[in-house]
Amino acid sequence: MKKTGALLLGLGLLAATPAIAQDAAAGRQVAEKVCSECHFVDSVDFKTSKAPGLLAVARMSSVTELSLKVFLQTPHAAMPAVALTQRELDDVVTFILGLKGNI
Ligand code: HEC
Repeated sequence: MKKTGALLLGLGLLAATPAIAQDAAAGRQVAEKVCSECHFVDSVDFKTSKAPGLLAVARMSSVTELSLKVFLQTPHAAMPAVALTQRELDDVVTFILGLKGNI
């Protein structure tokens, strides 16, 4: 029994890793489609006068999965609300958090 459990856990971990990479790739597409109007996707530079590149966003120590999800689901004065499906939201947040690894 124990062995089966460990095997299943191992398979679960194997399956989870490519899923994260896939979500991040889908998230990049969302960012390029929806966010790139105002944010550079892969750069720290400001694209529009007020919007920092998403790499700069990822670098902020205050940025977490929760802070991004809350930010993207609440109306803001400076940034217009972006209409994302739950899936797009999850993917774009996975993508931005993944950029932290590029720092
Ligand atoms: C029409 C322009 C526009 C679009 C489209 C847009 N943003 Fe923004 N975004 C802004 C501006 C302007 C700010 C700066 C807001 C501020 O300083 O209060 C901002 C700020 C942010 C911040 C907060 C940065 C901080 O200072 O804490 C995050 C995170 C963010 N945007 C993510 C996104 C994501 C992800 C998308 C795409 C799903 C997106 N934005 C689409 C204009 C935009």
